[in-house]
Amino acid sequence: MDKKEEPMTYSDAVSKAASAIYRFPLIEVEGIPLRSWIANSWSLISAFQPDPSDLLIATYPKAGMTWTQEIVDLLLHDGDAEVCKRAPTDVRIPFLEIQSPPPIPSGLDLLKTMKPPRVIKTHLPIQLVPKGFWENKCKVIYVARNAKDNLVSYYHFDRMNQTQPEPGPWDQYIHKFMKGKLPWGSWYDHVKGYWREKENRNILYLFFEDIKENPHREILRIMRYLDLSLPDDIIDKIVQLTSFEVMKDNPMANYTFIPNTVFDSSISLFMRKGEVGDWINHFTPAQSKMFDEDYTRQMADVDIPFRTSI
Ligand code: A3P
Repeated sequence: MDKKEEPMTYSDAVSKAASAIYRFPLIEVEGIPLRSWIANSWSLISAFQPDPSDLLIATYPKAGMTWTQEIVDLLLHDGDAEVCKRAPTDVRIPFLEIQSPPPIPSGLDLLKTMKPPRVIKTHLPIQLVPKGFWENKCKVIYVARNAKDNLVSYYHFDRMNQTQPEPGPWDQYIHKFMKGKLPWGSWYDHVKGYWREKENRNILYLFFEDIKENPHREILRIMRYLDLSLPDDIIDKIVQLTSFEVMKDNPMANYTFIPNTVFDSSISLFMRKGEVGDWINHFTPAQSKMFDEDYTRQMADVDIPFRTSI
């Protein structure tokens, strides 16, 4: 009897590709270090044509992307928790530039299978976002996180994620971050690039710290930006469903759908702490002073109201 083949899940595809997964080297695209798989497909990625109804969520890596994806998906589905468990985050909201060894579908592959309006994730700095997003006046949500917590989170992620370059020792990692040598480039240029264009290009610019401090208020801001109108009890439900504790236990949002051979949870969890101010447990006073002095220099030309505590 013919056995009907089940379609391969995203987790299965990543497991199948495991032997081809390693810490990919970085190749610069227009001066931005990107994973080799992304850099090698750059012409395809930059030619991507979104629909005007598509929504882009952009962040520097580890600034609150997954959290924002979950909030947006729930807002678009009236707070229906079950619908938002229809697939892992990466399948519900494709990662525009991601390219991986087969059979893992690329972000572009997944997007081809979806009808607009789609929600799309990117970590690209603003100058590398495909022009079509601006030509089509797509809505863009940007989330920024204070440099020190962002750096700590990225460090732990690079320890556990076997597709990212080796982080090396903590002290050296701080310098790589300051010099913009990590995948997706300089945090400083990233947050400034979107900040400077937020009015011109109608970008909703949010802060991780604000969402943590008052998720209800920030979820309402996102709701209004998306021209949605949901009753307050649904917003309260979304606040609860997107709390760190609930998302940590949601297998469709906590990245346990990525096998351990790729995201090694024995080293660090994807949903690690979700706090503001954890940097204090990592930086020595001397490192903090050195980082702050450099920060003042690198951020002298802009006034972005980051908070390292709430
Ligand atoms: P930590 O490593 O500081 O815990 P991204 O999704 O952009 O990769 O960011 C991941 C960071 O956001 C991690 O930070 C993760 O724990 C945190 N995060 C994810 N969901 C969260 C939530 N619901 N509330 C607070 N922080 C969250």
